[in-house]
Amino acid sequence: MAATEKYNTAEMTSLGLEPSRLPEHVAIIMDGNGRWASERGMPRIEGHRRGVDSVRTIVEESARLGLKQLTLYCLSSENWKRPKSELELLLQLFEDYLISEREEIIRQDLKFSVIGRREGLTEGVLREVAQTESIAQHHQGMRLCLAVNYGSRGEMTDACRNIARAVQRGELNPESIQEETISENLYTAGMPDPDLVIRTAGEMRVSNYLLWQISYAEIWVTPTCWPDFGLETLYEALRDYASRERRFGGIPASQ
Ligand code: IPE
Ligand code: IPE
Ligand code: MG
Repeated sequence: MAATEKYNTAEMTSLGLEPSRLPEHVAIIMDGNGRWASERGMPRIEGHRRGVDSVRTIVEESARLGLKQLTLYCLSSENWKRPKSELELLLQLFEDYLISEREEIIRQDLKFSVIGRREGLTEGVLREVAQTESIAQHHQGMRLCLAVNYGSRGEMTDACRNIARAVQRGELNPESIQEETISENLYTAGMPDPDLVIRTAGEMRVSNYLLWQISYAEIWVTPTCWPDFGLETLYEALRDYASRERRFGGIPASQ
C-alpha cells in the first residue's frame, strides 16, 4: 500500500483549515475511556479498546495534515494507582497495538519515540517498543511520540540527576546551565515543544503532562471522551488553534 498522501491546500481549505496556521506539534491527553465505557454499561477496558481505534484514526489524519509531531499520553506514572487487572490489560493493549500498527508505521514512514520510565513495563512491551524503534529509525515522516509510564516531574527529576552527574564529572560548570541544558536533558531532547495541547473528556488540568514543554502551548479541552474523538473533533481543535493569537509574552502584532 502506498504511503498516506498529504492533503493539498484545496483539500485543507475545504476542511476549513489553513496550512500556515496549523500547529507543528500536537500533544493529546487521551482521557475519558473509562467514563465512555461506564456510560454504556461496559467494563472500563472496553473504553480503552475503543480508544485504540481513535488512536489509529488520529495518527493517520495527523500525518495526512502534515503535522511534524503527535505526542499521545498513553499511561502516566500516576496511573499505577489503578487496579492491577486494568493495568495488565492496558499494557497488553499497548503491546498488541505496537504489533498491529507496525506495518502502518512503515507505510506512513513515521518516526517513532516512547517517552517515560521503562521500569514497570512488561517484557513484551519493552520488546515491541525496541522493535518498532528499530524499524522506524530511518523514517522521515511525522514523529509519533508515545508517553508511557510518563510523568513530567519524574522527567525533570531525571534531567536534574543527569545534569548533576555532568557537573560532578567536571564536564559542566553550574554557571553555564541554560534553559537549553534542561531541555536537552529531558526525554523530549531534540523535539519541538507542543504548540497545541488537546484534552478530551472535559477535565481542566494537565495531569503531570509535559509541564516544561507546554509553557507556551495553546490548550483546547473538549467534553468528548477519547473513544468518540474523530476527525471532526480534531478539525474543530485545529480551527480553534488557528484563531488564537500567540504572544509569547509580547503584545498583539496589530499594536
Ligand atoms: C484515559 O482514560 C486512559 C488512561 C488514563 C490510561 P481513563 O481511563 O482515565 O478514563 P476516565 O477518566 O476514567 O473516564
Ligand atoms: C491522564 O489521565 C493520563 C492519561 C491520559 C494517560 P488521567 O485520567 O490519569 O488523569 P487524572 O487522574 O484525571 O488527572
Ligand atoms: Mg481519566
